[in-house]
Amino acid sequence: MIVGVPKEIKSSEGRVGMTPAGVFELVKNYHTVYVQSGAGEGSGFFDKDYQQAGATILDTIEQVYAKSDMIVKVKEPIAKEYDLIQEGQIVFTYFHFASSEALTQAMIKSKGVCIAYETVEDEEGTLPLLTPMSEVAGRMAIQQGAKYLEKPVKGRGVLLGGVPGVAPGRVLILGAGTVGIQAAKMAAGLGAHVTILDVNMKRLRYVNDIMPSHVVTEFSNEFNIRKHIQSHDLIIGGVLLKGAKAPNLITRDMLKEMRPGTVIVDVAVDQGGCVETTKPTTHGNPTYIIDDVVHYCVANMPGAVPYTSTVALTNVTLPYVLKLANMGWRSACNLDKTLAKGLNIVEGEVVYEEIIKTFHWESAVA
Ligand SMILES: NC(=O)c1ccc[n+]([C@@H]2O[C@H](COP(=O)([O-])OP(=O)(O)OC[C@H]3O[C@@H](n4cnc5c(N)ncnc54)[C@H](O)[C@@H]3O)[C@@H](O)[C@H]2O)c1
Repeated sequence: MIVGVPKEIKSSEGRVGMTPAGVFELVKNYHTVYVQSGAGEGSGFFDKDYQQAGATILDTIEQVYAKSDMIVKVKEPIAKEYDLIQEGQIVFTYFHFASSEALTQAMIKSKGVCIAYETVEDEEGTLPLLTPMSEVAGRMAIQQGAKYLEKPVKGRGVLLGGVPGVAPGRVLILGAGTVGIQAAKMAAGLGAHVTILDVNMKRLRYVNDIMPSHVVTEFSNEFNIRKHIQSHDLIIGGVLLKGAKAPNLITRDMLKEMRPGTVIVDVAVDQGGCVETTKPTTHGNPTYIIDDVVHYCVANMPGAVPYTSTVALTNVTLPYVLKLANMGWRSACNLDKTLAKGLNIVEGEVVYEEIIKTFHWESAVA
């Protein structure tokens, strides 16, 4: 198969769909890989690295789309790319169709085969191609929270690890899922006191088993949240209700109960946030303050660490890319039910029921 890796053209996107290691594996399996010149630069991979791994570098995005049977990328195609997608061409990337009817219509029109990272789902209901980004965001949440606790950026002026003779900072984590556990691990590693809340007892038991004793689990309810926000310096929002808006666990009135300079990092901002006062921010301007509480609500946190994010993402996408390239999408999806869940639009037809429901369409072809 001929596989193409275009440069991401969505603003502030430094990730790339394939690393030189991925190219090496594909070439070893007798496939041809075209990489657009400069595609990996944002992640620290240069044309010569791809060439050494066996790729051919092409100058333009048009050439990459025109010559490839399968496009492997990171973000959904943007308007400029719509007409580049050809009938029958596989596009393997994050699409998030529910958030854009225009994109959905364009992909139907293209007659391409759209396989969405975010809906690849295994038998336990986990989303293996989303997990690495939650891991990155969970770990980053503590790094960012620690920074914004510093006084010059209006934080409480607390060092998370404390020093001998001074108690460590206190971190409250809402949600003990992927984001929550990774955040807890980082905070515990810095020596902070950590309280982690969830409504799922299985998750709390797991955290309790694997974490050191300065990570304390408690059931998530309003009473406990109101109690803890008064004494914690950094609050991480990592709650998810699948397919729904995150619940507002911290309401506007609760901000008054926090100490001035408390920092909230609401990682769940991409699902509306679990704090009533959350609104999406960018890496260029990541924080704002309400009632002396610093809010950090960047919706694409992994975008700030494109090297780590690219490698983490491609570690999990590559096995599927190889399957698609070796067998073609039909056989690969027939044999692998996890991958088959990623099929969203196939040659002009929507095959992922949720999209039809989201847009209140009556049929699979709008
Ligand atoms: N901002 C970013 O850049 C970024 C990056 C990655 C992920 N995210 C988002 O982070 C959020 C968390 O993702 P995840 O992968 O950790 O999800 P996850 O499903 O692994 O974990 C979510 C947890 O929330 C718990 N939960 C549900 N209701 C709760 C409640 N009332 N109180 C406490 N806990 C509750 C669930 O039981 C679950 O353990 C998602 O919204 C995800 O989209 C954001």
